[in-house]
Amino acid sequence: MLLETSSTNNLFALQYLSASTRAGSIRHAGGALEENLSLTPTGGPPGLSRHKITTSSLREHKLHHEPITCLTAYDYATARLVDEAGIEMILVGDSLAQAMLGYENTLSVTMDEMLHHMKAVRRGVKHALLVADMPYGSYQVDPNDGLRNATRFVKEGGAEVVKIEGGEKRVDLIRRIIDAEIPVAGHIGLTPQSVNVMGGYKVQGKDLSGIEQLMRDAVALDRAGVACIVLEGIPREVAAMITAEVGAPTVGIGAGPECDGQVLVFHDILGLTFGPPAKFVRRYGDAAALITNAVQAFRADVKSMQYPSDDESYHLPRETKAGLETVLARKRTMRR
Ligand code: KIV
Repeated sequence: MLLETSSTNNLFALQYLSASTRAGSIRHAGGALEENLSLTPTGGPPGLSRHKITTSSLREHKLHHEPITCLTAYDYATARLVDEAGIEMILVGDSLAQAMLGYENTLSVTMDEMLHHMKAVRRGVKHALLVADMPYGSYQVDPNDGLRNATRFVKEGGAEVVKIEGGEKRVDLIRRIIDAEIPVAGHIGLTPQSVNVMGGYKVQGKDLSGIEQLMRDAVALDRAGVACIVLEGIPREVAAMITAEVGAPTVGIGAGPECDGQVLVFHDILGLTFGPPAKFVRRYGDAAALITNAVQAFRADVKSMQYPSDDESYHLPRETKAGLETVLARKRTMRR
């Protein structure tokens, strides 16, 4: 079989194979364009496209080489801010295990915990495409569980897409979920739910057999009809090859600039994580310093009795105050 060894020739064979897949995917995107024309603009800051983002909008972004932006969000307030800033895709990632819940890795977070955050985020998002990350154990044990849990994210959490880690080996499940009218985001490369199998958080696809496996995974996901493919922790050259070969938009994290879009963890771009950042993280703000300064200033004001001031206090109405003074004066006289 063409795909069974890791020779460079076979990589070319893969290119040929996936080119035919791509043609099929673009046909789908044609239909999607028509749907988009009927979407109602939802308003918002000038200069930003405030149409509701759908899976078909993502394909249009790819077709028009318009980079897709994606950030994680785990609560109402940040979801609103991220959405209102014009980010196209919001991911309730299982990274909330570490970022929000203080777990060591993503393996412990449960469906119920994910759903709790998902519902809060849903209430804050109007325009972005909302993606729910299927947590470890919610689809690996039994495909029926996978389908049931994907459905829960849509019904209870208001998700528009569910994300599943893994390539070829997840394709049957992904097809079943798509059959149930739920769009799926693939996720290949460094897949954090496989941390124990990978022996750590290691860049994937650094040798020819690794590259070939990634290509096979990407093509399999594309053929299954995924809405997009997250490429995590792979060399930019490999991400570029995959992006050129598949019809589905690729969204990279630590996968270089040739992807169709980029995703980062909200807490990473704001310096709200406590360890040293990964190579690909760019910090756009220091929310940790902002929070620390604000908390320390509050503490100092309370200790020095500068907070609250009279202006920050409620007052009695004038008549009540006069009445109260009369009562207190009478009490003082009686005590004498
Ligand atoms: O859980 C997560 O945050 C992710 C990434 C792709 C950012 O899966």
